Amino acid sequence: MAIERTLSIIKPDATRRNLTGKIVAKFEDAGLRVVASRRIKLSQADAEAFYAVHAARPFFADLVKFMISGPVVVQVLEGEGAIQKNRDVMGATNPANAAEGTIRKEFAESIEANSVHGSDAPETAANEIKFFFSDLQIVG
Ligand code: CMP
Repeated sequence: MAIERTLSIIKPDATRRNLTGKIVAKFEDAGLRVVASRRIKLSQADAEAFYAVHAARPFFADLVKFMISGPVVVQVLEGEGAIQKNRDVMGATNPANAAEGTIRKEFAESIEANSVHGSDAPETAANEIKFFFSDLQIVG
């Protein structure tokens, strides 16, 4: 399988509960490598732009409000089949449907405060990585 990169966000519900290290350990245990990492506070404009694809969804305003409610940790994860691997480690979007051992099963509070975001496809991953990082900031 090809080496890929994917964009991960550790969300405000997780940074608030000091879970960054526990979540990164799950990525690393699955064979993903953190090749870029930054803790930031998103502005409203940042969050709206990042989630623009969901702009028409009924949960959009609440999602943006939540994503700017505290710090997030944005990271690039690298590894074999990293996009799907990260999605497997995260578990289903709704923690009620997430499998045992996944990040969302273990840590998520709700479908909105679900602790992590991960890119869903190669094109999305490329765009989402570019949203936060320049090539020089990614060191494999
Ligand atoms: P994420 O992977 O970051 O992508 C969009 C986010 O919207 C999703 O995770 C959830 O945190 C949030 N969200 C809130 N409500 C819903 C919903 N009903 N369906 C899907 N995503 C939702």
